[in-house]
Amino acid sequence: MRYNFDEEIDRRNSGAVKTDLLGVMWQRRDLLPLWVADMDFRTPQPVLSAIKKRCEHEILGYSLPNRQWKSSIIKWQKTQHDWSVEANQISFVPGVVPALALAVNCFSDKGDKIMVQTPVYHPFFDVVEKHGRTLVQNPLLFEDGQFRVDFDKFAEQIKDCSMLLFCSPHNPGGRVWDAETIRRVAEICKENNVVVVVDEIHADLTLPGFCHKPFASVSSAAKDICVTLCSPSKTFNMPALSNAYVIVQNDLLRKEMFDFIEKFSLHYGNVFAFEATVAAYTECEEWRRQMLAYVNGNIDFVCDFIEKNVHGIKPVRPQASFLVFLDCRGLGIPHEQIVRLFVDGAGLALNSGTDFGENGAGFMRLNVATPRAVLQKALESLKLAVEKL
Ligand SMILES: Cc1ncc(COP(=O)(O)O)c(C=O)c1O
Repeated sequence: MRYNFDEEIDRRNSGAVKTDLLGVMWQRRDLLPLWVADMDFRTPQPVLSAIKKRCEHEILGYSLPNRQWKSSIIKWQKTQHDWSVEANQISFVPGVVPALALAVNCFSDKGDKIMVQTPVYHPFFDVVEKHGRTLVQNPLLFEDGQFRVDFDKFAEQIKDCSMLLFCSPHNPGGRVWDAETIRRVAEICKENNVVVVVDEIHADLTLPGFCHKPFASVSSAAKDICVTLCSPSKTFNMPALSNAYVIVQNDLLRKEMFDFIEKFSLHYGNVFAFEATVAAYTECEEWRRQMLAYVNGNIDFVCDFIEKNVHGIKPVRPQASFLVFLDCRGLGIPHEQIVRLFVDGAGLALNSGTDFGENGAGFMRLNVATPRAVLQKALESLKLAVEKL
């Protein structure tokens, strides 16, 4: 079956953050929304059917996880990433960001230093700062159009940190970390008694030529010090289900984390999340394959269009996921003016690069998980706005 990702579905007034929060964020509702990291594509049919089928039972009483929930996760991690995980190493969590906050509270004390690598998905700042911990920003180097870890600085800064929040693949740069990079990060963290919380929500969205390596799978040192957060929500477009899971393979860390989750009764999960995960992991592989091919086509389209028509902007080609970080520094204008150019000049709502840290200045994040015709409209508006500069 061929899925139609060209279909334009009106999301306005459905409660979608991407459309219905435009007024609050930009005081205008007429912007083309290309910001929040979900897709404008229909959630795959097997996921929707599984939820509908569960509703047909007509009693939403206290429910155990679907029996296939853990086995579908184990099989998925093994077949997609060659990572062997055992059933007792998995717990439900109600979202990756809530789990980041839980892990911060579980493994650190108020005032402790926690490292993030900027530019990075902005809730990484909140889960540290809003919980009274001290944020340590380890800036990534941007070289030859890609982000990489500045290991000298990393090794120095990590010394007095108790935790690292590691984003793999990395958002917003779309970087898929290679096994060697992960191994070095793990070794340095192990030497310094640092717990690594790894956010692998973009793991199943690698683009042609790139292969995601689960942090825990690269070495025994890595496996021993990490807590990994995964979810089918990004890949199968169902983040509204508050659905994620944590995998911890080290016995001590697992006991601490799982006891902590239980203290808040968060491990029970919700019935739709379980049904949706099983459907996604067992029935939606073909949908995922076609969706990634479409997204990759959109990335080609964006890169070609900008290269030919928009001088001063260079897309950072993502190695995973559907977010393209646009390097707008060649426009030669201050960051605030770049933001105004996108909003006032082109009528587009993108994430400002500075949302991801100070070194995101000069960048804007474009979500390309949308029909190509929408992207074309957006890029043509951008071209005209840049020409008028
Ligand atoms: C790196 C990263 N982590 C977590 C999330 C959100 O996770 P959740 O909706 O499960 O809290 C996102 C969404 O954009 C993300 O990009």
